[in-house]
Amino acid sequence: MNRLLIHNIGLLATPTGSAAKAGPAQGQILLQNNAWILAEDGLIKQTGTGDSWQQIPQEDLSLIDAGGKLVTPGLVDAHTHLIFGGWRQNELGLKLHGATYLDILAGGGGILSTVRATREATEESLYQKAKEALDEMLTLGITSMEAKSGYGLDRETELKQLRVIRRLGREHCMDVRSTFLGAHALPEDYKDDREGYIRFLCEEMIPEVAAEGLADYCDVFCEKGVFTAEESRVILEAGKKHGLIPKIHADEIEAIGGSELTADVKAISAEHLIVCQPSGIKALAEGGTIACLLPATSFYLGATYAPARDMIEAGVPVAAATDFNPGSCPSLNIQLVMNLACLKYRMTPEEMLTAVTLNAAAAIGLAEKAGSVEPGKQADLVLWNAPDLDYLGYRMGSNLVNTVIKNGNIVHH
Ligand code: NIG
Ligand code: FE
Repeated sequence: MNRLLIHNIGLLATPTGSAAKAGPAQGQILLQNNAWILAEDGLIKQTGTGDSWQQIPQEDLSLIDAGGKLVTPGLVDAHTHLIFGGWRQNELGLKLHGATYLDILAGGGGILSTVRATREATEESLYQKAKEALDEMLTLGITSMEAKSGYGLDRETELKQLRVIRRLGREHCMDVRSTFLGAHALPEDYKDDREGYIRFLCEEMIPEVAAEGLADYCDVFCEKGVFTAEESRVILEAGKKHGLIPKIHADEIEAIGGSELTADVKAISAEHLIVCQPSGIKALAEGGTIACLLPATSFYLGATYAPARDMIEAGVPVAAATDFNPGSCPSLNIQLVMNLACLKYRMTPEEMLTAVTLNAAAAIGLAEKAGSVEPGKQADLVLWNAPDLDYLGYRMGSNLVNTVIKNGNIVHH
């Protein structure tokens, strides 16, 4: 048996439970001073405080002295566009000359230029590039994540992206969840045939993706100039018919009814929500949909920030994630997301911790096994070069991770 004991934890900070936390409960986390954690065969077996760990049988026990550090659950990045060819540094200059994100997309750049690069890339090169990104994510404290397709917009390339995601899930220690985002943009080859592309997604792609077990979720970029709310509904309903759980990019740049749809289609999460209106917040609360907020994208787009406080007050569970992608957020650094959650969303450090652990795990269907430090859950832990939780919201620009433990193994130190 593989047994690991971490003792001398200055502060163990964790949400509790196996479902997303909303309202005041989002800020209620367990704080234990001078704590210890016992993991056996990759799972958390027991936690306690003080010297009581010394009663545990010591044979085969690997000991880690946490040196008084803060320990939290491994972080969960519930929203990334991990698999793509190339980068888009050329867009920086265009933006500095005044072009907006949607201008660049309308001109055939943006997502569409990454589509061209991803179509050209080999499956193996996409795998290697994404694997390096996962390795970097581990060093930043992330132990579970979600990845989307959406840079193929044709059968061959969407399937190629999804196969890479599934392979990463098998071969990398990270837990990886998969989302089909064929509705990320209208491909150039269908630019005069919106209906044809939507039919292709609903009647050909979704059934094949589902039958091959290549995705857990179906997502749509519901945005002005991309897919309307009604088109999004049709695509998400088709996904549901084939067992793909709905997610939706909504209210990122303009509010066109995406968040209002979430209660009807029973979306597990809605993403971005930068300009979400009260009617959208109401729908999220009614549907029990998790608001998956992406503050580093607001920062990168020079946009405003999602009304996180209004959401928490309305009883919407809030998660926060990176949105890692080559256009609107070329960063894997979830610690920046944590800073922005406190500073821009005005979430407390406790609410922020829940947002990047338990609520994020719930947004990708992992809350039963990840997102908190409790017996029976996976031993996914971060030891921080930090004395307390406030420090994680307060310091910025450094990687504060000391050690990352995934399924009871030290994967970064
Ligand atoms: O979440 N909004 C749509 N998709 C991504 C951006 C993708 C890209 O620009 O390549 C996002 O921001
Ligand atoms: Fe996104």
